[in-house]
Amino acid sequence: MKKFNVFGFAGSLRKNSYNKSLLRAALELRPENTELDIFDLQGIPLFNQDLEQQPPPEVREFKAKIKAADALLIAMPEYNYSMPGVLKNALDWGSRPYGDNAFNDKALAIMGASIGGIATARAQYHLRQSCVFLNMHVLNHPEVMVAFAQDKIDAAGRLTDEKTREFIRGMLIELAAWAQRLKR
Ligand code: FNR
Repeated sequence: MKKFNVFGFAGSLRKNSYNKSLLRAALELRPENTELDIFDLQGIPLFNQDLEQQPPPEVREFKAKIKAADALLIAMPEYNYSMPGVLKNALDWGSRPYGDNAFNDKALAIMGASIGGIATARAQYHLRQSCVFLNMHVLNHPEVMVAFAQDKIDAAGRLTDEKTREFIRGMLIELAAWAQRLKR
């Protein structure tokens, strides 16, 4: 049976990022038939439209992996009630040049961890807005919004909260079904 290939990245460069922890948890919790390739946005430079026709190698790799994937998984912090610049920057590179939008027609699941109580909800809805123009099809349910992440992720960066682990497990199952439904 063909593997279901998910490409995931976090909107945080922080070494001990809670959102990177969510991606590592997804790697543990993925269904048997699902592969998850995790990418670090560290090497992606700031977007410069002068370079969009000949992007740097890191951007080429990023776009190629997006295009090859059956679905995407983004783990995002909330910065100042919106998505972090690191994530927006990656979306901008991936969408350019005009006519070569790597995100086009992709299934996407979003999750987010925050140290606060609103749990990245505001940022996730901003990402959903960008997905309209990017023509990405976002899974609606379950929404994985992890509040007070510092109480759910231990010092080693492992997601220990069982309820959150169940949410992520369920979301990955739903993502595979969602991507299947989108196939024409
Ligand atoms: C934050 N943080 C934050 N949290 C939140 O829930 N809503 C917000 O608007 C913000 N704004 C914000 C701005 C900036 C510049 C920083 C650095 C942080 C706190 C945020 O939840 C916390 O730093 C998380 O640990 C970020 O996720 P990672 O890096 O752990 O994945």
